[in-house]
Amino acid sequence: MAMRSRGLQMRPRRQQSQSQSQSVLVGVLLLLLATAAPQVAAAAGLSQNYYAKTCPNVEALVRGAVTQKLQETFNAAPGTLRLFFHDCFVRGCDASVLISGPGDEHSAGADTTLSPDALDLITRAKAAVDADASCSNKVSCADILALATRDVVQQAGGPSYPVELGRLDGKVGTRAVVKHSLPGAGFTLDQLNKLFAVNGLTQTDMIALSGGHTIGVTHCDKFVRRLYTFKGARPQYSPPMNLAFLRQMRGTCPLNYSPATVAMLDAVTPLKFDNGYYQTLQQQKGLLSSDQVLFADRRSRATVNHFAANQTAFFDAFVAAMAKLGRIGVKTAGSDGEIRRVCTKVN
Ligand code: HEM
Ligand SMILES: *[C@@H]1O[C@H](CO)[C@@H](O)[C@H](O)[C@H]1NC(C)=O
Repeated sequence: MAMRSRGLQMRPRRQQSQSQSQSVLVGVLLLLLATAAPQVAAAAGLSQNYYAKTCPNVEALVRGAVTQKLQETFNAAPGTLRLFFHDCFVRGCDASVLISGPGDEHSAGADTTLSPDALDLITRAKAAVDADASCSNKVSCADILALATRDVVQQAGGPSYPVELGRLDGKVGTRAVVKHSLPGAGFTLDQLNKLFAVNGLTQTDMIALSGGHTIGVTHCDKFVRRLYTFKGARPQYSPPMNLAFLRQMRGTCPLNYSPATVAMLDAVTPLKFDNGYYQTLQQQKGLLSSDQVLFADRRSRATVNHFAANQTAFFDAFVAAMAKLGRIGVKTAGSDGEIRRVCTKVN
C-alpha cells in the first residue's frame, strides 16, 4: 500500500488529466479509509458500560477475585499482564490464549512460559462472575482478562483506567501463528517497531507497554547469552550491561543454571508497578536485550529518559497504549466469536 501511494505521488502533477487527479484523490481517500477503518470499527464495537444491563457488578466481581489471588501470590500480577499482551498479539484480544488442549497456543514459543497463576486467576474470576445469577454465561473470557489486567496493574501500584468491553471469545486457539506474532528477547528496535506497527502501535506505545516489565521475571535462558562469551557462538548484537550487575547476574545464572531460575526484569523496584523499569535501563541493568536496546538506541532513548523522569507521563502513555492494545483484532459480532462457558474450552 505504501509503495502504491508513493508511485502515485511521484507522477508529475502537470501531466495529470483531471480524471487522473480525481482517481488519485479517490485512491488516497480509499487508502485513508482502509488504514483507519479497522481501528474505528473496533473502538466502536466496544464500550465501557457494555454490561450495564446484563451484569452491572462485573467490575466488582472480577476485582474481588483479583484481590484474593494476589493475596496468595504476587506472581499472578505480572503473569496476568503478560497473558493479556500475548492474547491480543496472537489472533486479537479474544481469549484464544486460554484455550487448552493438544497444539494450543501455550504449546508454542514464548507462550510456553505463561504463568499458571495467571490462568488460575482468570478461571477464578470467571467463576466469580458466573456465580452471580444475572451474569451467568454473559461475560466473555476476553473481557474478564481485560478487566483483570487493569486490576492487577492497579493493585501492583500502577494507574487505574476505564476498560472498554464487548469482546467475544474466539473459537480458534492453535500454536500455528504464535511464534511470528510475538516479539523475541533478542529483537532490535527496528524489529520491535515493525511488529508493534503491524498491530497499530507506535514506537511510543511500544516503549510504554514495555514498561510492563516493571514487574515480573525472566528465565536465565532469555538473557544468558549476554553474560558469557560462548565458544563458537555467532557474534550477536547485545546492548551494554553494567559490569557489577553483569557479575551479579553470573551468580544468579551460572553456566550450569537451572532452567527454573528467574531474575527480576526491573532490578530497581521489582514488586511495584512504577517507572523503575526505565531507571533500570538508564543504569544499564536491563536483562533482556529488547529492553536495554530502548536506552541504547538513540531513536528511543529520549522516551526512556522521559518516562524515567516523570512517572505520570509513563502512566498516561501506558493507559493510552493499553486501550489500543485492547482493541486489536476484537470480535464484537458475527459467527467468529462466542461467550465461552469455560474459558479453557470453546463451547
Ligand atoms: C517489547 C517486546 C517484548 C518482549 C521481547 C518481551 C519478552 C519477554 C520475555 C522474554 C519475558 C520473560 C519470559 C520468561 O522467561 O518466562 C517477558 C516477561 C514479561 N513480559 Fe514481556 N516482552 C515484551 C513486551 C511486553 C509487553 C508489551 C507486556 C505487557 C504490557 C509485557 C509483559 C511482561 C510481563 C509482566 C512479564 C513477566 C511475566 C511473569 O513474571 O510471569 N511484555 N517478556
Ligand atoms: C509529567 O508529565 C505530565 C503528563 O504528561 C505533565 O502534565 C507534567 O507536567 C510533567 N511533570 C513534569 C515535572 O515535567
